[in-house]
Amino acid sequence: MSKPATTVLIPGWMHEHARRMLGTHFNLVETPDCDIHTHLSAEVRASIRGVACRARIDRQFIDALPNLEIIASYGVGYDAVDAAYARSKNIVVTNTPDVLNEEVADLTLGLLISVVREIPKAEAFVREGRWKASDYPLSRLTLRNRRVGIYGMGRIGRCIARRIEAFGLPVAYHSRRPAEGVAYDYFPSLLELASAVDVLISIVPGDPSTANSVNAEVLSALGPEGVFINVGRGTVVDEDALIGALRTGTIAAAGLDVLADEPNVSDDLLALDNLTILPHIGSASVGTRTAMADLVARNVIAWFQSGAAVTPVP
Ligand code: DGY
Repeated sequence: MSKPATTVLIPGWMHEHARRMLGTHFNLVETPDCDIHTHLSAEVRASIRGVACRARIDRQFIDALPNLEIIASYGVGYDAVDAAYARSKNIVVTNTPDVLNEEVADLTLGLLISVVREIPKAEAFVREGRWKASDYPLSRLTLRNRRVGIYGMGRIGRCIARRIEAFGLPVAYHSRRPAEGVAYDYFPSLLELASAVDVLISIVPGDPSTANSVNAEVLSALGPEGVFINVGRGTVVDEDALIGALRTGTIAAAGLDVLADEPNVSDDLLALDNLTILPHIGSASVGTRTAMADLVARNVIAWFQSGAAVTPVP
């Protein structure tokens, strides 16, 4: 069988499952990173019609591929792709929604309980051989009788809310507009939400409208018993304000699965013992990551077979 003529570029890392699927349908070109002017000749760049990636795709990258039709991004958040610019050039951008909703929601609850009940510290207590010598100090925080605010009531936000409800806790939320079919209390501003809840969970996308929106004022409104959890994007939080709020007891504790400059973690963040940091593992199970890879490949295949991608971004 002769290889079809369509060429797809994978700049940098891509899940093996997606690579295999794409390799059976297309000529694959792979580069170690996004510096495609260095890695590829003008002739090869002109042959590329699709990109499958988990990388920063900016204007310069897009401009280097004159015949590009689709950018299939691995992940539900596509803040790393300049989607507006791609759209202006009639390039379709796809992401991987839905297949990770439950997994990210599970992780969110795990992180919340870890922060409130200080599970990482309790585990260290045992491993350090301190159990026999002393009683474990009681945790000051609890989820009992607490109200939880969710910042972002999209598909993952709803999965988180269902789990919170199952814990017997009232849910309130803020998003750009009231979410359809959702009966939880809606707050028109993040500040009002933060003032009304004990726990604030952020699951909004990282874009200019959300950048630094969890700021000193919002954290102060959460109050000294307040707990902040971020499983969306690190850019949503003013990290200096968060560090200050955790240092001074303006809020009680926080849990972050995402950081503004990940994978870099500042010493100031690491110095805080009322902060739990995870390495962006919301969707990180073998099954969910494979499902995300499958969707990346299916988007590219569907686009070139039918002219319609499976999950184009809005
Ligand atoms: C995504 O897909 O955007 C998530 O952050 C991955 O965990």
